[in-house]
Amino acid sequence: MTALSEIKERFRPLLSELTGDVESALAMIRPAQDSKFGDFQANCAMSLAKPLGKPPREIAQQIVDGVQLDDLCETPEIAGPGFINLRLRSDWLEGLARGLVGDERLGCELVAESKSVIVDYSSPNVAKPMHVGHLRSSVIGASLCHILRFAGHEVISDNHIGDWGTQFGMIIFGYQNFVDRVAYEADPVGELARLYRLVNQLSDYHGAKLKLPQLDEQIAAAETRITDAEQSAEDPKKLKKTLKKLRGDLDGLRETRKSTESKIAVVDGDESLAALAAANPNIARLARDETAKLHAGDEENRRLWDEFLPEGLKALDTVYDKLGVTFDKTLGESFYQPLLADVVADLKSSGLASDSEGAVCVFIEGNDAPFIVQKSDGAFNYATTDLATIRYRVNEFSADAMFYVVDTRQSEHFKLLFETANRWGYDGVDFRHVNFGTVLGDDGRPFKTRSGDTVGLESLLDEAVSRAYEVVVENDPNGELDEDTRRSVAQAVGIGGIKYADLHHNRESDYVFSWDKMLARTGDTAAYIQYANARINGIFRKGGIDLAALRGEAASLQLAHASERALVLQIQSFSDVISSILTELRPNLLTQFLFDTANAFSSFYRDCHVLNEEDESLRTSRLLLCDLTSRTLTLGLTLLGIDAPERM
Ligand code: ARG
Repeated sequence: MTALSEIKERFRPLLSELTGDVESALAMIRPAQDSKFGDFQANCAMSLAKPLGKPPREIAQQIVDGVQLDDLCETPEIAGPGFINLRLRSDWLEGLARGLVGDERLGCELVAESKSVIVDYSSPNVAKPMHVGHLRSSVIGASLCHILRFAGHEVISDNHIGDWGTQFGMIIFGYQNFVDRVAYEADPVGELARLYRLVNQLSDYHGAKLKLPQLDEQIAAAETRITDAEQSAEDPKKLKKTLKKLRGDLDGLRETRKSTESKIAVVDGDESLAALAAANPNIARLARDETAKLHAGDEENRRLWDEFLPEGLKALDTVYDKLGVTFDKTLGESFYQPLLADVVADLKSSGLASDSEGAVCVFIEGNDAPFIVQKSDGAFNYATTDLATIRYRVNEFSADAMFYVVDTRQSEHFKLLFETANRWGYDGVDFRHVNFGTVLGDDGRPFKTRSGDTVGLESLLDEAVSRAYEVVVENDPNGELDEDTRRSVAQAVGIGGIKYADLHHNRESDYVFSWDKMLARTGDTAAYIQYANARINGIFRKGGIDLAALRGEAASLQLAHASERALVLQIQSFSDVISSILTELRPNLLTQFLFDTANAFSSFYRDCHVLNEEDESLRTSRLLLCDLTSRTLTLGLTLLGIDAPERM
């Protein structure tokens, strides 16, 4: 129970008499914007005015007269057009907080109905180096798993790795033609990654050369469109808009031309690369052929795949270890290959899929493109695999829900996937595309290194820890922390900082990756929250406080100061936040809550004595409050997948 949920329950009976849509009316009871007016505000009278045909203030009065709040709130006040301002009674709030002291779950009840939830996250393509783009899925996915599990769901985290894709054709081709044996023996993963990049680069080079003349044509056409528009008789306002759009298109094309040119220049500028490119004009097709051979069961390619795959998985594990992310299952695309033919046959026999220009497609009205489940060359694809995966998860794990933590750019795929699955008989499953935006560099474009490569995730994590270590040392001029502690704090702050910086953005937005502030002890950062927690632990150490004994004391909590009251009001809302995350799947609601909690604690600690409070019972009460705060911060950080060191 939280204050808000209790208030809503009190309002419910009366509101159901007034409206058929109680939930919307209840949703209009919210924390007050300004504590001057109270703790909560009910704004439902205004929207009930029209349907009830009465002035809103009159309805507000009717609500205030009819809702039983005496033990919970001070006398409600009606303000403005009909806002109902509510202030909790301190004794009620004290009782609520006292209850939290003995509650390991800090007021969060388990969900009434535990569901089997599959969280499909991280899911990189194996044998390509993991880059910063994989951070978001891994971090958001892991935190959602923690939260869903904490709420009482049965969660299976599944890393749906891409281990059967075209990258293997590239690597096989690269291995057969360009391998450096010594390097491969010494560091197979590194050498395979190099081969992948090399083949990719050479294929791109030839592709870029073909594309350049086309781009020039498109640019010329775009320029003509602009001149034509300028000379047209369109009305000036409309013309301005048209020109803006056309110029935007032209800029986009010029950008593309620039990056296409620079891809070519990089290879041309390197003698040995240029020679390789010249010697391998058909490299893209040859690499594709290797993939096709692998898929068709070619023995040699299968042997190489068996050799390469474990190396790719090892490389992923190194990153997951650093990130502190784990999975219950790692069932990649290759796992589903034997099941695909049957999926297509089943879709066809149930009349869902049909042949179209040689391919097999599911047509769903209202969508521009069909969902292709078998290509005209007979190959199955990403879509087929995802359908097989759904069937497997329902059969094997009795999945009630599947949450896919995947880039927004795949929205179209998931829309078609879910619609197809619903028609295929899986309409009882709660499918959600937990989409997220792109990580950008300072220039507002997808985050790249100076040379234009994607930023490797592993080196990014290492850099975070070493930067954090410098910060730790700087903040510890007297050497209070021993070397081991410094290292582990650097780990917590560095990795926690990166995760937090990602999680605290609304997941659907793009965000700019910036070291600046990420590791700082002030501001909306992991370090700020971790530090607040360490500070509380410092108070306990300094006072020699026995926490078990403290929690066992029959002491009551006293909310004497406004800052104490504000802190408790904040902490008790934890369960409201968790509930919202369960429906919205947004970890940023939790980062916001933790930031607000750390802020509320810092005001409390500024305004109230703790260890040197002379009134014994007030001192105990305040220590209990510190403990509650620390437990809240620690639990919250843990649910985000972030460590909460006791000293730093
Ligand atoms: N491997 C895919 C990629 O890198 C993501 C897979 C997401 N999961 C899924 N079931 N489709 O784009």
